[in-house]
Amino acid sequence: MQTPFSNSADANAQFIYLTCQRGAEPALKKEMAKRRPDFRFSFSRPGFLTFKLPEPESLEKRLALDAAALRTIFARSCVHSLGRVAGKDAVDEAGNFDLNRAVRRVWELVALEFEPDKSPKLARIHVYGRDRFPASAKGFEPGLTNYAYDVHRALCEAAPENVKASFGPNADRLDAPGRPGEICLDVVAVEDDEFYLGFHRVSDAHSRYPGGLFPLELPTDAASRAFLKFEEGLRWADFPIGIGARCVDIGAAPGGGSQALLARGAEVLGVDPAEIDPRVLANPNFTHLQGKISQFKRKLFRKSRWFLADMNVAPKYTLDVLEELVAREDIAARGLLFTLKILDWKLADSVPEYLSRVKSWGFNHVKARQLQFNKQEIMVAALKKPFYR
Ligand SMILES: C[S@@+](CC[C@H](N)C(=O)[O-])C[C@H]1O[C@@H](n2cnc3c(N)ncnc32)[C@H](O)[C@@H]1O
Repeated sequence: MQTPFSNSADANAQFIYLTCQRGAEPALKKEMAKRRPDFRFSFSRPGFLTFKLPEPESLEKRLALDAAALRTIFARSCVHSLGRVAGKDAVDEAGNFDLNRAVRRVWELVALEFEPDKSPKLARIHVYGRDRFPASAKGFEPGLTNYAYDVHRALCEAAPENVKASFGPNADRLDAPGRPGEICLDVVAVEDDEFYLGFHRVSDAHSRYPGGLFPLELPTDAASRAFLKFEEGLRWADFPIGIGARCVDIGAAPGGGSQALLARGAEVLGVDPAEIDPRVLANPNFTHLQGKISQFKRKLFRKSRWFLADMNVAPKYTLDVLEELVAREDIAARGLLFTLKILDWKLADSVPEYLSRVKSWGFNHVKARQLQFNKQEIMVAALKKPFYR
């Protein structure tokens, strides 16, 4: 198999590695072709893509080009290449994969780029794999595997002393968030016996966690798994939603997204013709408006400031509904957080148009991302600047 490191003429070439939801590779490839036509697609496996940089860059320049700078919707993580550990570098005399050997080789390769007594220094290690299944697979949630924890432990134990000395707080915990500015060594276990090594600097919310994977689990009292995508979405959007924030949740049933808001002390109007989970209804800060959004008079929403939407409808319908509500001045919306279903991948091409439409309603911070807990859909966050923290 051709990999970024199998062509010796390319020995000095530099690459970026991107991970994404399994199935989103063509959409991510298209995005990269538009955003960075100078980066040449190199190779991919489901959930993992590599691109060659047009020419070798300094460490500082590479650190500055992170997932946030690329501004792609479908990339979950973006790291710069350090090399690959597989095959003869990772087997024992009998030819079997040997984690200790692989780990030793990792540190040899790292030492070539991160010299012991020079800056910048590594503050933590991120280990993660590719998604093992497509997002549609029943019961599958992307996240850190036990194997990732094992590899992380082995890497921490075998780290050279001078590297250990530069580790940040809680670097021995794989799920501990990195701090802004910290540099992480990335070990992407593309297969259990094939590691792609890279590095990145912590910048946005997702880059704090290995592979952009939030260590979130579905609470036992969650009304639906949609809790996870809205919990992730609220952390990513970083909206100042706290006690008493007035929110509308359109397409609220059975209520997982509303629970993420209620947990922050918000007051929620949940709009949906379907039934709401009794545990959500029992919260005094939740009111169910039972019916389709079009059935309710806009004056009901005049005091609302934050609008969530998660309807199982085409993107155009979601956008029409939101425009009708928030594009006029009588409703002073501060922020929107909503899903757009990309049930046909061709719709991914229209996302820039959708985002321009949201901007035209007066939201000057608009971003979109396929979240870890999004299935075949994306999340859009929009904020009005005068309120930006
Ligand atoms: C994916 S579910 C929402 C899950 C929910 N956000 C949660 O956190 O549990 C989609 C919901 O959209 C609702 N829906 C579809 N069209 C709607 C409309 N026009 N107005 C309000 N709700 C709508 C459906 O009834 C359905 O309950």
